[in-house]
Amino acid sequence: MRILVFNGSARKMGFTEKMLNFFLAKIEGTVDIIHAYDLKISPCKDCRYCWHKRGCSEKDEMQEIYEKIDAADLIVFASPVYFHSITGPLKVLIDRLQVYWAGVLRDDKDGEKEKLGAFLLCGGAPAFPNQFLGAEIVLSGVLGDLRAECVGQVRIANTDKAVFEEDIPALLDIECLAEKIRRIHNLKVDSRQDRKG
Ligand SMILES: Cc1cc2nc3c(=O)[nH]c(=O)nc-3n(C[C@H](O)[C@H](O)[C@H](O)COP(=O)(O)O)c2cc1C
Repeated sequence: MRILVFNGSARKMGFTEKMLNFFLAKIEGTVDIIHAYDLKISPCKDCRYCWHKRGCSEKDEMQEIYEKIDAADLIVFASPVYFHSITGPLKVLIDRLQVYWAGVLRDDKDGEKEKLGAFLLCGGAPAFPNQFLGAEIVLSGVLGDLRAECVGQVRIANTDKAVFEEDIPALLDIECLAEKIRRIHNLKVDSRQDRKG
């Protein structure tokens, strides 16, 4: 399984990275991690090139990321909640994925590989209603545009106080998500082999 991860956290070994590391340790495959804060990319300028041609007019580090997305079997987004949404650099990256949304206008979405998707979120505040809603809307939407079936998500609150390694429900949630992805991926591989005969 080719796994492509987008990490939207600013902090090395912050809560997001710990969630991700734990998740990735429970799943087998080749892993490529993109750190949104390390990217040198321009924001989408809505030039509408992608309305007519597959690709982006802005030739920067996103070009390589498009290739990685096209090859991936599983796409994982991980982000802290910043002001009820994902972090700014991750949002800049996601806006550059407009090229996948525009596949509807170009009428070439059928050519895109179907994938699995998931996301991991953490919020520093103690749990409150709709703490993750803004981020969930953004990430569910973009996974759909990437043709990645969202198979699950993990949301952890109170991360400014909680100690990741001691948060048993969080560890179990992440383990369950990894197990679910493993099972679905294996079923897909088996059914592809059956079809080949
Ligand atoms: C600019 C900023 C905005 C934040 N906004 C929220 C918020 O709206 N809700 C929340 O629960 N936590 C919020 N937090 C707390 C972070 O989600 C929390 O510290 C998280 O653990 C950071 O992720 P990291 O440990 O991977 O760096 C915010 C933190 C920052 C720096």
